[in-house]
Parts: sequence; structure tokens; C-alpha cells
Amino acid sequence: MTRSYPNTRLRRLRANTALRALVAEHRLAVTDLILPVFIHDGNEERQAIAAMPDVYRLSLTGLLRIAEQAQTCGIQALALFPVISVDKKTADGRQAYDDTGLVPTAVQMLKQQFPDLLVITDVALDPYTTHGHDGIVGADGQVLNDATISILCQQALCQAQAGADVVAPSDMMDGRIGKIRATLEEHDQQATVIMSYAAKYASNFYQPFRNAVQSLPNLHSGEAGSDKRSYQMQIANAREALVEAKLDADEGADILLVKPALTCLDIIAKITASVPIPTFAYQVSGEYVMLKTTKDLLPERECVLESLLAIKRAGATAILTYYALDAAAWLS
Ligand code: PBG
Repeated sequence: MTRSYPNTRLRRLRANTALRALVAEHRLAVTDLILPVFIHDGNEERQAIAAMPDVYRLSLTGLLRIAEQAQTCGIQALALFPVISVDKKTADGRQAYDDTGLVPTAVQMLKQQFPDLLVITDVALDPYTTHGHDGIVGADGQVLNDATISILCQQALCQAQAGADVVAPSDMMDGRIGKIRATLEEHDQQATVIMSYAAKYASNFYQPFRNAVQSLPNLHSGEAGSDKRSYQMQIANAREALVEAKLDADEGADILLVKPALTCLDIIAKITASVPIPTFAYQVSGEYVMLKTTKDLLPERECVLESLLAIKRAGATAILTYYALDAAAWLS
């Protein structure tokens, strides 16, 4: 059958809202949204973040408040990102697996008060290290792969034992998923989900996040190794992302994550087409800021919802977004 005009008039199915809804291939629902939350161990309930208008660093009290708000509007998952005070940062980031630390404490509180809300914790050392890298740095200035993995395993285990539903390695070390999975198995944490940041690109769109978690002053010093390009993927590559995704799936990841979203829609599409496990996307801090700070020039709500739906169309089943609460309200 060859389609041709006038038998085929594609505009027929675009004529009204009802027809458009019936033929919609993708939909955005509040249950697709995951809210990233910055937490700190101070008393200030909400601390403004200069680089991210309307996003706050929250105390544990602030965290409980936002968790309740999220749950009330139908959001099912939070992703926690800690801001660690300078006196607790070390070169090896050992605070990352202190079971009395900020993240384990926050997880325990959340699970106690909101047992049905999924808690996702970040596995990476950047908030905990004096240099701001996701791993530990060797004498030559390079981030050490295998030595970092041993610490990540302890960090992931500590989070799982505190009750995290999902541990999410965002560090991009080679082979860490297999080791983390083995560690969880050995310690009877079989139910813990691993969401692997499988294709995480070295992106400039993370800059506001680094301000939020206060790892920025330590990176970008202009010295060799002061950015993350020796472990995060280069933006020029797409096929390499399939190797990353397949390795992580084979090593025992339950969910893959692509990040950033906007500049990686093709990567989301490629991975979902070839690796048959769920793939999420992270609409990162820079994407948020672009939408947030142009609201006098662009219709914010419409542009946010368009971006999120496009990410779903690319193949993601869920999206981490700083707009989760707003989007939930707009969708209801
Ligand atoms: C680091 C981490 C980063 C983000 C999440 N986890 C930043 C980085 O790699 O430097 C960025 C998220 C965002 O920009 O919103 N483990």
C-alpha cells in the first residue's frame, strides 16, 4: 500500500483534542517523575541555591516536608543528594560509608515515615571528597578505578542497610556494577535495586548541581584532571554508550540511566532499542536552569511538559527532574 494525498490526510487525526488524545503514542504521568532533593545537615530548613532558582538545600525537617508534598501529589520516588560540610570532606571520601552519616540518617527517617515512597541514593564520592571527584585520586592525578570501587561498594551497602530502595552509582568507574551487586548479595541485600548511570556524559549542564552540592570550587581549577572527562563519556560518542549499557546490564543493573536528557535523546532511543531493561533519564540541573531562567521569554509550563514528554518519547520510562513537583501539579 502506498499512501498518498488525498486518500491520506494526516491532518484528519489532528483535528481536535479527543482525536489527538486517542492517537497519542506517549503520555506523561506523575508516576513517571522522580524528584531529586539536596539535603544538608544544618538546621536551616530551606537554604537557597544561587545557581538553581526555586531549588533548595533542605534540612532533615525540610526533607520530610517535601517528601510529604511529593507523596501527596502522586510522586513515588525521591533521589537524595547530600551536601557535606567541609570539615567532613576527605581525599578518600570516607564519610560516604559512615552509617551515622547524613544520607543513611535521611533514608532511615524517610522510610520510617513514608514506607511507600521509594528512596534512591547516589553512589559516588564527589560530595565527600576535598577535590570534588567521584572517586579517589592517585599520585598522578588520575581517578583510580579499582580503589574507588571498593569504597563505592561500602557506600552502596551502607545505603542499602539504611533502607534505600534503589542505589544509583553515578561515578562511571568500570566494573562497579558487578562488584556492588556481589557486595549486596553477600550481605543479604538481594532486594536492593541498582539503577546504573550507564551512559553519563561529561556535560557542562551539571554545573549548577556542582554549586548545589558545593563540589564546584574544587573542580575546574584549570589543573590537569580538574574535570571529569577521564571517566564520564565524551559527548561525541553514541555507540560507546551501548557498550556501557550492555556491560552494566550484564553485571546486574536493574535499571539504566542516561544523563543528561536533552543532549542525549538519541542515546536513550538507542539504548532502549537494544538493551531490554528499563531505562530512565535525568533532566539535569543545567536543563532545569535553562527552562527556569527563560520563563519571561518562553512559556515555562508548556516547555517543561514538552521536554519531559520528548524524553519519554525517546524511550525513558521515568525521569529525574527538578520540575517534578511543578509538573505533578500541572498534570493533575
Ligand atoms: C555526581 C553527580 C552529578 C550529577 C548527579 N550526580 C554531577 C557530576 O557528575 O559532576 C549531576 C546532576 C545534575 O546536574 O542535575 N556523582
